[in-house]
Amino acid sequence: MIRRFFFIALTGTVLFSSALSADEKTEKYIDTLTELGYPAPKENQLVHIPPTMEDLKEAELHPELKRVIRRGYDLFTNTQQLRGENVFSEMNCSNCHAGAGRMPFSAPIWPAAVTLPDFRGKNGHVNSLEERIAGCFTYSMNGKPPDYGSDKMVALTAYHSWLATGVEMYPDKPIYGRGFPAPERPEELSYSRGKQGYNENCAVCHAEDGAGLQVRNQTAFPPPWGDGSYNWGAGMVRVSTAAGFIKNNMPLGQPNSLSDQEAWDIAYYVNSQERPQDPRYTGDVEETREKYGPTFHKHSRYGQIREADGKRLGDHENTGEKDFLKPDTVRSRTFE
Ligand code: HEC
Ligand code: HEC
Repeated sequence: MIRRFFFIALTGTVLFSSALSADEKTEKYIDTLTELGYPAPKENQLVHIPPTMEDLKEAELHPELKRVIRRGYDLFTNTQQLRGENVFSEMNCSNCHAGAGRMPFSAPIWPAAVTLPDFRGKNGHVNSLEERIAGCFTYSMNGKPPDYGSDKMVALTAYHSWLATGVEMYPDKPIYGRGFPAPERPEELSYSRGKQGYNENCAVCHAEDGAGLQVRNQTAFPPPWGDGSYNWGAGMVRVSTAAGFIKNNMPLGQPNSLSDQEAWDIAYYVNSQERPQDPRYTGDVEETREKYGPTFHKHSRYGQIREADGKRLGDHENTGEKDFLKPDTVRSRTFE
């Protein structure tokens, strides 16, 4: 119960908008995180507390900019409003990026605003912030990104950049709580233990068949697999990424309550279930796995045989709810 209180305080907007000095605020922030079982920052790490929507009211920014930032927040937390247009999953961006993209250890989104443009191994060229956002639309949301430079894209980038307020560009220190840091991989992962762990700890919200729960077309509990979930090209299909996400964030409100072994076994189980095809699919699952193995699929179960029933994972043409495989925004760039 106490953990839950801290968790709500941290993801919400109440606790940190009071009149504390910057140092006191940071100290309190770190205390709250360590109370929840997260590691304290290392000596040389950059700690940033992103502003809240409450702070936005007080901020000295042009009212029109505030309006656009609010629109970006609205798109980020209720991405389902773009269902059928840009989103073909049952997800909101904030279903994975907890606390509306502010939460450390839940892939906070502001680091992208201060570290991009940069080279990205996943697609082998220099990416802008817009292209990074487009990546999550394409894979995590199984969708089609809004056009570059469109109102929606500008609103989303404004929200990302504003969360980074005060952080230097291209910081030379590593960022505390970036990504979904995974606990150390145990020697052996077990599908059957993962299944049991999932049914005991997760199914109450996400359902035994992974379908989650939708209430009046709104996502109450997002689906961790199946047609409404992230596709085979999403970062979350890497077992290590899912293990990090689960350990740090799930069950909801009880972060860091599972053992490392449980988190990895459950991640292995969840990521051994079917989901929409990888948009980079060449028409052959083994060929696709080989092509994107070194940069990506070596960490996923894609193209591998599931021990429970001998099924080859990802060997299908199912693109979920959308009627195309790959949005045309996914292309390489050479700058020649
Ligand atoms: C299914 C889970 C999931 C959903 C839904 C999702 N993302 Fe992500 N996102 C990830 C993962 C995984 C990463 C990579 C984290 C890492 O580097 O380990 C990521 C990374 C990012 C980053 C880069 C963060 C950094 O540290 O540089 C941004 C920006 C981002 N996502 C934006 C979005 C936006 C915008 C949406 C909605 C359109 C979205 N994401 C939806 C899983 C998700
Ligand atoms: C009390 C309900 C609840 C429980 C229990 C729970 N989750 Fe979640 N889960 C959620 C909610 C709600 C979200 C979206 C988070 C948000 O929007 O802030 C989520 C998000 C997720 C996501 C990212 C989105 C997606 O669907 O892919 C995954 C993966 C996930 N949970 C896995 C798990 C696993 C594994 C467990 C068990 C260890 C678990 N959850 C337990 C409610 C729950």
